[in-house]
Amino acid sequence: MKLNIAVLSGDGIGPEVTAQAVKVLKAIAVEFDHRFVFKNAAVGATAIDQFNDPLPEKTLDLCKSTDAILFGAIGHPKYDYDPTAKVRPEQGLLKLRKELGLYANVRPVKAYEALLEKSPLKRDIIAGTDISIYRELTGGIYFGEKHLSEDGNHASDLCAYSREEIERIAHQAFKAAQSRRNKVTLVDKANVLETSRLWRRVVTELATQYPDVQLDFLFVDNAAMQMILNPSQFDVILTENLFGDVISDEASVIGGSIGLLASASVGDKYAMFEPIHGSYPEGAGKNIANPIASILSAAMLLEHFDLHNEAELIKMAVDRSLELGITTPDLNDNYNNITTSKVGDFIADFIAHPYDTNAN
Ligand code: IPM
Ligand code: MN
Repeated sequence: MKLNIAVLSGDGIGPEVTAQAVKVLKAIAVEFDHRFVFKNAAVGATAIDQFNDPLPEKTLDLCKSTDAILFGAIGHPKYDYDPTAKVRPEQGLLKLRKELGLYANVRPVKAYEALLEKSPLKRDIIAGTDISIYRELTGGIYFGEKHLSEDGNHASDLCAYSREEIERIAHQAFKAAQSRRNKVTLVDKANVLETSRLWRRVVTELATQYPDVQLDFLFVDNAAMQMILNPSQFDVILTENLFGDVISDEASVIGGSIGLLASASVGDKYAMFEPIHGSYPEGAGKNIANPIASILSAAMLLEHFDLHNEAELIKMAVDRSLELGITTPDLNDNYNNITTSKVGDFIADFIAHPYDTNAN
């Protein structure tokens, strides 16, 4: 298969981890006789520095002309603490999601057997956890009208949803549940928010089309608690934009590091694959960031094109690296000099020699 892939590695550790995902995709191309063509473009703080625009037109055009996008990370501390900043790196990512209509953000969360002791949560609580979070990505409070009064003392962000925005992601969540454990949990705040009541109504109606799927409801505050009390109760979690953002960072604690969590952001026309973590500026340039989230995002990219054997091989290589303790410092109490690029090398080598268990 030939795939043109836009690589938007972005800020902080973005370039380092994305380079490992590209390395792994190249190894897959060799093994399975595919042709992957990579084209780089600027986004985020890096793009502001160069073009004074977090999402230059050229980058957006490239994304629209390729088959898929591999995204790194976005954000720089110099914008975080500046309330007056008019241009922010995050706007690049949000505009990309909106312009490309990437409304469904899928975030798999699982407890790896080899890492059960790495999580601050108890082994018995997290063992067996396997969740797929369906986060709505182009609506809600992220994209509603924003307002700041002239005197700077009043601000508002509007949270709005339409039936159509809810239906399209809900269909995807129900379909995903049908190929998993047949359960969808809608996370909302329907005791307070009108938008949440709309979500409940629409999702309940739609559930009648999926009689084999059990639909449950949880208020987001309770869901946050359940996520660390009893995470294995969840199969598919369906939720709106902001709740999904918060719940997924919380869920990353189960795996032992946020550096493991990949995601796919999919719309009707385009698809982007990105780690859920941020740009980790303190770690940038040190070759210490965990590249697994980016590598697993590449696996999700392959799955999107029905390259299941290829994706499976990546996941197998990742499992092996975790079993052997070939992991970056976020997962190693004793810093053992395993760098970002060493993890990428191990996984790429494993792909080249999958049956040689000594590959490293
Ligand atoms: C994420 C990130 C983004 C979000 C930021 C960088 C805008 O936290 O992908 O989860 O809030 O969606
Ligand atoms: Mn987030």
